[in-house]
Amino acid sequence: MLGLPGAGKGTQAERFARTRGVPKVSTGDMLREAVHDDTEIGRRVKTTMERGELVSDELMTGIVRERLERADTMSGFVLDGFPRTVGQAESLDSMMNGRGPLIVVDIVVPEEEIARRLGARLICADCGANAGSFADAAHPVSDAVAVGAAARVEAEAIAGSRLPPDLQRCGRCGGRLIQRADDDAAVVLERLKVYHRQTEPLVEYYRKRPTFRSVNGALTPDQVAVALAAAVDAAAAGTITTGGGVAR
Ligand code: AP5
Ligand code: MG
Repeated sequence: MLGLPGAGKGTQAERFARTRGVPKVSTGDMLREAVHDDTEIGRRVKTTMERGELVSDELMTGIVRERLERADTMSGFVLDGFPRTVGQAESLDSMMNGRGPLIVVDIVVPEEEIARRLGARLICADCGANAGSFADAAHPVSDAVAVGAAARVEAEAIAGSRLPPDLQRCGRCGGRLIQRADDDAAVVLERLKVYHRQTEPLVEYYRKRPTFRSVNGALTPDQVAVALAAAVDAAAAGTITTGGGVAR
């Protein structure tokens, strides 16, 4: 899945993977887990992630290659957050060799909506689960657009009584909900710049392939999920009917 930071890649990857019974391979989640667990990789990537910059292609392709060698990915998998550069896409093509079509879906969302979503997002400090958005529960959307530092303060004070119980603790593990370290307004700006510079070229890299689709990510999560499932199915069917659509 391709898309701006906050486009909904993680949300949709999780749902799609669950529905289709395949694993979700999220490089962002894997790296955040490494940082949380203070592993050697976590210590290497922490500052880079906090600045909103990309971790090296070498490290990322190594991590993904190793993950895709595990047996649970043999019937398919969903990639969230990888590839992020043309170099990573070229490596992925070589990893996909002989493994069936690589379907690429670009989730398209306007940048104003991105600022609203990321400024308001909460995640679990313990398990990293996305807990949704306190803005949806506690603020009208117009308040949440001008978030950033204010959101951080708000998010750090979320034990506050204005939030319903399901936005005070993680629904999965009961952990404390916090703002993601790279959702600070200044870092979001950097992530958007990095996206345009290093990741957006991937849209052109994939666009000519018959397995490329784009979906409108500005609809509700349910609507996006329906559109995305249809897009994936259409792309997969295309590879059968044309016989030539298998992305290398
Ligand atoms: P990563 O974790 O991949 O972050 P990202 O791409 O910046 O994207 P996000 O996770 O912020 O957004 P998302 O598109 O997943 O949206 P989500 O579903 O969460 O990467 C983080 C960092 O790790 C990078 O900056 C880099 O340092 C490093 N890294 C990771 N992979 C790398 C790689 N391959 N190479 C190099 N470095 C790498 O949704 C966002 C919010 O919106 C949520 O609150 C959600 O509830 C809400 N939302 C979702 N859908 C909707 C909707 N339809 N309507 C309303 N709200 C919605
Ligand atoms: Mg994500």
